[in-house]
Amino acid sequence: MKCFCSVLKTQEGIIMTVRAIRGATTVNENSRKDILSSTRELLVQIKEQNNIKEDDIISIFFSLTDDLNAEFPAAAARELGWLEVALMCTKEIEIPGSLEKCIRVMVHINTNKQNFELNHVYLKNAKSLRPDIVKRNGTKKADGADMINIAIDGPAGAGKSTIAKILSKKLGVIYLDTGAMYRAVALKALRENLDTRDSKALEKMMRDINIKIEFENGEQKILLDGKNVSGKIRTKEVTIGSSNVAVVPAVRLKMVEIQRQIASEKSVVMDGRDIGSHVLPHADFKFFLNASLGERARRRYEEQIGKGMPGIIYEEVLKDIEYRDKNDSSRDYAPLVKAEDAIEIDTTNMGIDQVANKILDMVKEKNV
Ligand code: CDP
Repeated sequence: MKCFCSVLKTQEGIIMTVRAIRGATTVNENSRKDILSSTRELLVQIKEQNNIKEDDIISIFFSLTDDLNAEFPAAAARELGWLEVALMCTKEIEIPGSLEKCIRVMVHINTNKQNFELNHVYLKNAKSLRPDIVKRNGTKKADGADMINIAIDGPAGAGKSTIAKILSKKLGVIYLDTGAMYRAVALKALRENLDTRDSKALEKMMRDINIKIEFENGEQKILLDGKNVSGKIRTKEVTIGSSNVAVVPAVRLKMVEIQRQIASEKSVVMDGRDIGSHVLPHADFKFFLNASLGERARRRYEEQIGKGMPGIIYEEVLKDIEYRDKNDSSRDYAPLVKAEDAIEIDTTNMGIDQVANKILDMVKEKNV
């Protein structure tokens, strides 16, 4: 139910208050594409970081600096399917020397949260507008304990999971393999005989999928519709399928919600493709691991041969990795990119211990 009054009691007796969330982002150029994609990213982050349902959004005001006029930013909200929300675009006051190419938003919501529980979101160059908030969001955890979030991103075979497991043991924190979640979605799609590239069918499937993560002695278990499927998600079909389903926003929205929830409750090393850039933009540490395509394929080939998987051919492993690299990097929503503030490590000529020690040294230096 939408309400413009300041306090509202729901049928369940919960007191809802009208509150406002601020946010801002910047674009590289005054183009329709940039304005829409940056605004979309900002709105999705505001929604996810504050756990808002569309029906709780009352209105959104957008302002654009004078150097932007290629598109109404409100169009991005419509594209997200927010058809019932009242939207308004306006021009920002032109103060000499102020931040250029900036999109600001003010989102009014009905909520049962207190003001201090809201997350205001400042992305890209707009982080400079509210450094206090950017910093606070980076350190604030649910129970106030001293916790740590480490994001490791990169393409297949760059060494993410091997390194993340070592870090998790040495630092005594859990390791969340987000790829396993996309793999579980692909497994369900394959079991239901869906084409893993059919976004409409996947959107429908996502409405009642049930994915849960549990940890047993530090080992991650992935439950799909109540059953542990950890041993069933490493086949070639699931691997290619996971890269296909990962393109679909409805899939990512659901996975990211679970990932953020876990990171807000526990210290975690999380690996994936969009962790530093999208899932945990305020992670304490962000690393981007990379290696040449040939080396990554060689590692994956040897790993699969080592596991005794049948019918493994190097050229096919290389082709699969190439396919996934392209899919991951070219998708519109939350693609594989190095976050601006991530530390990139080229692991092509580095041993596992070398990479792990390099990262551990950096973490310990800043953290202990
Ligand atoms: O271990 P590997 O790098 O082969 O793949 P994975 O981490 O298990 O991820 C499987 C697939 O899920 C990837 O090819 C990506 O397309 C997708 N993925 C993603 O889009 N975002 C993530 N955070 C993690 C995985």
